[in-house]
Amino acid sequence: MVAVIETVGLTKFYGDAPGIIDLDLEVREGEIFGFLGPNGAGKSTTIRTLLNFLLPTRGSGTIFGLDIHRDTVAIKRRTGYLPGDLSLYDRMTAREFLLYFANLRKVDTRTHVRELADRFQLDLDRPIKNLSTGNRQKVGLVNALMHEPELLILDEPTSGLDPLMRQEFLDLLEEVREEGRTVFLSSHILPEVERVADRVGIVRDQHLVTVDSVEAFKGLANATVTIRFASIPDPRSFAALESVIGVDPRNGGDTLVLTIDGTIDEVIKMAAEQEVLSISTRSGELEEVFLSYYTDADAQ
Ligand SMILES: Nc1ncnc2c1ncn2[C@@H]1O[C@H](COP(=O)(O)OP(=O)(O)O)[C@@H](O)[C@H]1O
Ligand SMILES: [Mg+2]
Repeated sequence: MVAVIETVGLTKFYGDAPGIIDLDLEVREGEIFGFLGPNGAGKSTTIRTLLNFLLPTRGSGTIFGLDIHRDTVAIKRRTGYLPGDLSLYDRMTAREFLLYFANLRKVDTRTHVRELADRFQLDLDRPIKNLSTGNRQKVGLVNALMHEPELLILDEPTSGLDPLMRQEFLDLLEEVREEGRTVFLSSHILPEVERVADRVGIVRDQHLVTVDSVEAFKGLANATVTIRFASIPDPRSFAALESVIGVDPRNGGDTLVLTIDGTIDEVIKMAAEQEVLSISTRSGELEEVFLSYYTDADAQ
């Protein structure tokens, strides 16, 4: 695996106030990496430091193996960036704005701009000052995507988009990945990160708390099984099973709500020794796992 973004001990203080502390990050080629954390966690600080808009207080980083400070021009040529605090030149139309940036990049992006504008239903000929928040965000997205960069760095890209456009945009990110390109996606919205990301890093209080695949996070989510028996079962025999971490008898004891960590197989086999009236399962909610990282300092 090739690391597209790599940081070692990357740290940014604003005076005494921490922005991000001791960040060791590795984003791999061809993945969608979700950078998830609540407001104030340090996501935008990280991104601005990666792109040399801020100088690190200490630590270092590379993108494409190039130094984030010294080689920023070469990095930006190959990167598309959507800032969290998008500011646009209000008096231009979207088309003029995008052409201006395409010229700075010395690339002809007209075909892609047209395709992207069609896809996102963006009117290119209205002055930017007359556009809604969502449409302004689309201009920023087209600007990040139009030169087909190898790496996209997107700071809360779906803010302001309506649900339909959000879906369209997430579909587009998946296409970008299929082409072998890399996406670094910061967000505080769990479902969208869960939907598209291969791996997720969770930031909290200016620290990267954990990094893992979405699949692995799902594995941490405990499923529950509710079984109703024809006669009252012995809850202790279920509690003794290795994969059962909780037993909650209900309904006068004929129903057991079991919390499962691991395989459900032995639970089913034990239940089948008696007459079962009904059984239902609920898979673990990823949200509960993520929330535990947000709120519980010992979750790691
Ligand atoms: N320009 C700044 N001056 C002082 N503190 C800042 C500045 N920008 C961000 N911070 C602080 O740095 C921390 C991380 O902020 P930020 O990177 O914007 O978080 P996020 O993007 O995850 O919401 C917060 O505590 C924030 O208040
Ligand atoms: Mg931010």
